[in-house]
Amino acid sequence: MASAALLKSSFLPKRSEWHTTRKSSTPQPTVIAFSVRAGAYSDELVKTAKSIASPGRGILAMDESNATCGKRLATIGLENTEANRQAYRTLLVSAPGLGQYISGAILFEETLYQSTTDGKKMVDVLTQQNIMPGIKVDKGLVPLTGSNDESWCQGLDGLASRCAAYYQQGARFAKWRTVVSIPNGPSALAVKEAAWGLARYAAIAQDNGLVPIVEPEILLDGDHGIERTFEVAQKVWAEVFFYLAENNVMFEGILLKPSMVTPGAECPEKATPKQVAEYTLKLLHRRIPPAVPGIMFLSGGQSEVEATFNLNAMNQGPNPWHVSFSYARALQNTCLKTWGGRPENVKAAQDALLFRAKANSLAQLGKYTGEGESAEATKGMFVKGYTY
Ligand code: 13P
Repeated sequence: MASAALLKSSFLPKRSEWHTTRKSSTPQPTVIAFSVRAGAYSDELVKTAKSIASPGRGILAMDESNATCGKRLATIGLENTEANRQAYRTLLVSAPGLGQYISGAILFEETLYQSTTDGKKMVDVLTQQNIMPGIKVDKGLVPLTGSNDESWCQGLDGLASRCAAYYQQGARFAKWRTVVSIPNGPSALAVKEAAWGLARYAAIAQDNGLVPIVEPEILLDGDHGIERTFEVAQKVWAEVFFYLAENNVMFEGILLKPSMVTPGAECPEKATPKQVAEYTLKLLHRRIPPAVPGIMFLSGGQSEVEATFNLNAMNQGPNPWHVSFSYARALQNTCLKTWGGRPENVKAAQDALLFRAKANSLAQLGKYTGEGESAEATKGMFVKGYTY
């Protein structure tokens, strides 16, 4: 038979190679080699993701790039020096008892390799607090040629070796933030590029022992209503999961960082926490497999109180995933203002951080009431064309 002949001939070495390759009398079949991705770290990835997605806890995002950190420090009149960034981040990681509410902290590369002002490694302080250190691995946004003035996220070159080094340094999870703009389309090209980049990154991070946080941020920019955000979010998440699957990413070992489904920041109609929760949970149910352990929302410019109320509304009933927070602005705003760069305010600033972390912990459990909130915490923080 033709097929038998084909098989037979492909198993046999060429006559000229017989003396070197033929080790036994039976011909050896060709083995198609393929590596099982995430294999070496699968158990650890699942454990890491589960521990970050543990009841009543969420993520403190403190991975502002130096440029963005500079903007934050400028709001309290501080210069953007390494010493000032170190002082501020020392304050954050060493807030006593933070680990009760915070399970992971996303760091910028500088912080991962930095010591606190009293000489301890930042990662060690976090680990002692039972907080997993994570690392921002994307290299930021640049214009996407051929699109409608949209952007794409850089950082895949050299990512595997960077992830391996970050793991050595104590990081156990990673973050890659890309954005989708509703007013600029979004174009099919921009959505596909965002989804593909996230999936490649997620596969590489898992291969190197880091749980990838998958963050396609749908920007708040625009005057569109909540229905339009919902429609775009469905498209984006469908594509993200298509490419995650195509890249053999293990869903049990990832975390998601979506935007909540809200109207655009300039939309005259505002949504209540109940509406935000309804739309957002409907989106998640339609698009996110229950194998994914945790959904850790970004705050995206919402006020601290708004972000906490919205999260609380999403936890009024059981969900197939841990539904929690990974806020930067909505955890740090009052804390930063309270500190103001003055050593005598460190304790008060840490108390402000703990207050916010506890409020969000309660919201994760669906028990937040809004009690004791300050006027500062109700201030929105939306910035047009926000970069991180
Ligand atoms: P915000 O919560 O300030 O939107 O931060 C988003 C983010 O990606 C931080 O890691």
